[in-house]
Amino acid sequence: MAMNSLQKMYIEMVEKALDRYVSRQRCNDDHVLEAMRYAVLGGGKRVRALLVLNFNRVLGGAANDAMEFAAAIEMVHAYSLIHDDLPCMDDDDMRRGKPSCHKAFGEAVALLAGDGLLTLAFETMARNTSIPQEAVLEGLRQLAAAAGPRGMVGGQAIDIEGSAQSVDELTGMCLMKTGALIKCAVRLGCISVGASEDIMAQADIYADAIGLAFQIRDDILDIIGDEIELGKSVGSDQSNQKTTFATVLGLEKAQHLNERLTQTALDALTQLGVEQDDPLYEMTIELCNRKK
Ligand code: IPE
Ligand code: IPE
Ligand code: MG
Ligand code: MG
Ligand code: MG
Repeated sequence: MAMNSLQKMYIEMVEKALDRYVSRQRCNDDHVLEAMRYAVLGGGKRVRALLVLNFNRVLGGAANDAMEFAAAIEMVHAYSLIHDDLPCMDDDDMRRGKPSCHKAFGEAVALLAGDGLLTLAFETMARNTSIPQEAVLEGLRQLAAAAGPRGMVGGQAIDIEGSAQSVDELTGMCLMKTGALIKCAVRLGCISVGASEDIMAQADIYADAIGLAFQIRDDILDIIGDEIELGKSVGSDQSNQKTTFATVLGLEKAQHLNERLTQTALDALTQLGVEQDDPLYEMTIELCNRKK
């Protein structure tokens, strides 16, 4: 993803915040802390954090009010990737251009590092003292729900079971396994500025569209991506015999659907008063054609 200077600045802020929040931990088993750092720092596009910070910005907020939220959602995301790569899940050896967490630290430590990041996310969020306590509480509730059995975990369960075969079923699964955290990121940005329900509803339209589009592009890249650029193995879905948007629709139709969803997301941004030259608008277009 090409990055303009604002997004680069946000990413730097998030990296520093993550480093700070993880370093604050003292852990009996140094391996677990080291594995947490390995998985969460210095890698990843930070799309979810960028969504938090960009929604905070376009709705008139200050980035510092949303930094705990942005870091927390990246922790939950990093935990989901550690567990997703485990032999009992997708069994993938590469992540973010390096050996996946269990390859570097062993399965038991990787499992615990995931647990550690998940719990640290909520501790971090609860420490946000720059916005009203009710907003922090609402953020915590949203993240817990998005990460849980009705969100990411539930979607991963359907994925592993292999029961989603039709486009509708895949849509339902992806809105959970990937869409839920992306929607939560957008909502956390809204919550950080105390946005109205009307604005939140419009932001949800954006988030659902982009959440689904994001997984469709991921499924496409699993076939056509460049392993080095992607930083993870291509062909993972095929070796796990997964049904994906790319296998059901074919590459071309899958990309068309990705583009249609992206247009829906852009229209929602326009409704929110976001201009076409805004970095959020540009980022949304870039996600649609991303190579990694
Ligand atoms: C990968 O997410 C897993 C999916 C939900 C598709 P990302 O593509 O955002 O991974 P990183 O954070 O950039 O590594
Ligand atoms: C992952 O989907 C969704 C998660 C909730 C982690 P994938 O299994 O396709 O993600 P990658 O391709 O391994 O990053
Ligand atoms: Mg998976
Ligand atoms: Mg995977
Ligand atoms: Mg994938």
